[in-house]
Amino acid sequence: MSDLSSRAETLRRTLNRYAHEYYVLDAPSVPDAEYDRLFQELQAIELAHPELRTADSPTLRVGGQPLPQFAPVTHVIPMLSIRTETDVSEQGALAFDASVRKELELSDSDSAVEYAAELKFDGLAISLRYEDGVLVQAATRGDGATGEDVTQNIRTIKQIPLRLRESEGGAAVIPKVLEVRGEVYMRRDDFEKLNARQRELGEKTFVNPRNTAAGAVRQLDPKIAAERPLSFYGYGLGAIEGWVLQPDTHSSVLNALTEFGFPVCDIREVVQGGAGLVAYHARVAVLRDDLPFDIDGVVYKVNSIGLQRQLGFRTREPRWAVAQKFTAEEVLTTIEAIDIQVGRTGALTPVARLAPVFVGGVTVTNATLHNQDEIERKDIRLGDTVVVRRAGDVIPEVVSVVLDKRPMIDVLGADLFDVKHVEQYPAYRLPTQCPVCGSHAVREVGEAVTRCTGGLICAAQRKEAVRHFASRRMMDIDGLGERYIDNLVDLGYVNSLADLYRLTLDDFLEMKRRADDRDGATPESVKAGQVTTKWAENLLVGIEASKQPPLARFIFALGIRHVGESTAKTLADWLGSLERIRHAPAPLLRLLPDIGSTVANSLAEFLAEPHNQQVIDDFLALGVTPQGEHVPNPALREKLTLGALLAALEIPKLSAARCNALVVSNSSLAELSSFSLGRLQDAGLSKDIAQSFFDWLTTPAAEVLLQLDTLRTDLLAALPAAEAVPQGVLSGRTLVLTGTLPTLSRDDAKAMIEAAGGKVSGSVSKKTDFVVAGEAAGSKLQKAEELGVKVLSEEDLIQLLG
Ligand code: IVH
Repeated sequence: MSDLSSRAETLRRTLNRYAHEYYVLDAPSVPDAEYDRLFQELQAIELAHPELRTADSPTLRVGGQPLPQFAPVTHVIPMLSIRTETDVSEQGALAFDASVRKELELSDSDSAVEYAAELKFDGLAISLRYEDGVLVQAATRGDGATGEDVTQNIRTIKQIPLRLRESEGGAAVIPKVLEVRGEVYMRRDDFEKLNARQRELGEKTFVNPRNTAAGAVRQLDPKIAAERPLSFYGYGLGAIEGWVLQPDTHSSVLNALTEFGFPVCDIREVVQGGAGLVAYHARVAVLRDDLPFDIDGVVYKVNSIGLQRQLGFRTREPRWAVAQKFTAEEVLTTIEAIDIQVGRTGALTPVARLAPVFVGGVTVTNATLHNQDEIERKDIRLGDTVVVRRAGDVIPEVVSVVLDKRPMIDVLGADLFDVKHVEQYPAYRLPTQCPVCGSHAVREVGEAVTRCTGGLICAAQRKEAVRHFASRRMMDIDGLGERYIDNLVDLGYVNSLADLYRLTLDDFLEMKRRADDRDGATPESVKAGQVTTKWAENLLVGIEASKQPPLARFIFALGIRHVGESTAKTLADWLGSLERIRHAPAPLLRLLPDIGSTVANSLAEFLAEPHNQQVIDDFLALGVTPQGEHVPNPALREKLTLGALLAALEIPKLSAARCNALVVSNSSLAELSSFSLGRLQDAGLSKDIAQSFFDWLTTPAAEVLLQLDTLRTDLLAALPAAEAVPQGVLSGRTLVLTGTLPTLSRDDAKAMIEAAGGKVSGSVSKKTDFVVAGEAAGSKLQKAEELGVKVLSEEDLIQLLG
């Protein structure tokens, strides 16, 4: 046995060395077949003796079982971000040097500051933790304080050592703990190959290397992650124990990382002062298009770690580092057509169809022209030669027109002889009718956007609304792609969002048949009488599965103008139920945090439309049940005062202070309606303001006062009784959630705890009162046990909350 165990050890070490030579140094010392032979030998040993498999075994690189979810990882040393200098000129780099010198109180006669200049890789930040030289954990950055445990996936990246390399002769000490930070990215050639393979398989291609790399790392099935060709560059350290670095500089940290076996990018320099930074920026600007991977700029770091410490941090960013980008790439091309796109809210967006050009790493064929004002400002016309810019992920943009190249076109003159003559294309004007549904397109005063007034009559708006509704962050209807949506709307199967839940298998099959017919694309197999149904069955399963969305997502999915993800969450958190939200009048909405007049009015307008309420009724009748409803937020009690409600009516001249003064001795708003002019003045209003309010009280708008009273009483009654929950059973308590709870989602559990006055924190400390642990609870549970913090099950929690 000990022979086998030492053989396994030798095999691991040899294979790890070969992998380093092959993947990091790009200098293999043995043929692939030799590697494979040893790999299989190790696999066979581990199969027969699973106890001999260790965390640094290269056989773990193939990816294990899929995970239900990622466990959270607290970063002992937070993963910070770097400030980006917006000035891409030399001045940007010089300004950084000046700020460092100022902070260090250096005078002009002091010598230049030394910097480590390196590339800013465009991928995903990862922290790799090695204990006694072995990779034990890999985590994403997350919010900087807590990330996700992606060890299984990271192990599949062959450039990342599973065990730190010991230098020749074994002189270097292996630290007790070493956290290496760096970027996981995908090379451009690997990305192209991956997409070529996707195309061959008839699968969807990926958009860009960065998203693909990030998606692979956050992939729950490590086998899929293992199939994505990822690379890694180290650029820094996290926690360290048992290791002292000499000399104490960033550049020597990077050198040490290469010694330990990590890939570190060669395009780095130690430079002196601002001039050195400028020179590095210029050097990389020339190189960047030819690099084998995408970069997002360069990073400058003060080289001395002693000085880094002295400079410290400003909120979440170090003062000793800055990132600087490059001027966005610009090219010339021509406008072949100007099309109009109709968005979900009816906005008509002019889009330039361009002669294809390669810019910023992709081929660009479209560029947004934004709106009429922008077109006029730049005087963009059909046929123009234009400067197009693309920076990073941003939508390509037409920067300017090259007027010298404006073409002349032949037109027939309106004279008797039909003589041709040439002139320029006329200035472009947005249409006054929607190109999709023919409804009027209007531009409201003070608005830049021209909108189709067709609402859901307009197929374009309907399609966008369905697309929005079905998308991942909303109802997440699996498989309902663009083509299906277009056909469902165009062929009249979906006229309102709720129709999605009325679709039957027959509808789908008929739709497909008609669409194929229309496009002359009926497959031979169908003509021969074979009809495939699997796709439609899958879609129906996807639709069925979407019927229980969290309340906030459902609200977001409705596509109400100005109601984004965070507003939807506010509504769900504060009002707690669909019933309360759908009947909330604008003044109540205005009282909620972060909801201003625009949002409140837009929501109220939406809810006032009977057909919108009908759609909500239809959803409910068809079995759509928003999840996680709860009592309104108890803090509503303080917000829902008569004075605040009155102020939220935004009655002219009536300030918040006056509103409060007016209702001091009232128990309802309705009482105000019977106030005489004199009484209003007695209540402290000046003659002028009293008159204005008195006038308002006689308008029909004042009826809302009665409604608000009822609404307020109902809402207050729905709140947990003030005495029953002495400011919440969990007031002043801090809880931590970990693992998967049997019935409650994280958000629900959090809402319940908060409703009971408790606080939910992300990490366990001595100050934690309870840890609520579910299935697959990890390090937090362990920590709770170590610290003697009380651990609750979901059942315990529910019991505690009564
Ligand atoms: S150092 C305290 N170096 O940029 C500084 N970050 O804004 C910690 N990044 O998401 C980061 N290349 O993943 C550093 N050479 C480099 C980098 C780099 C890319 C990313 C990093 C993080 C973001 C920081």
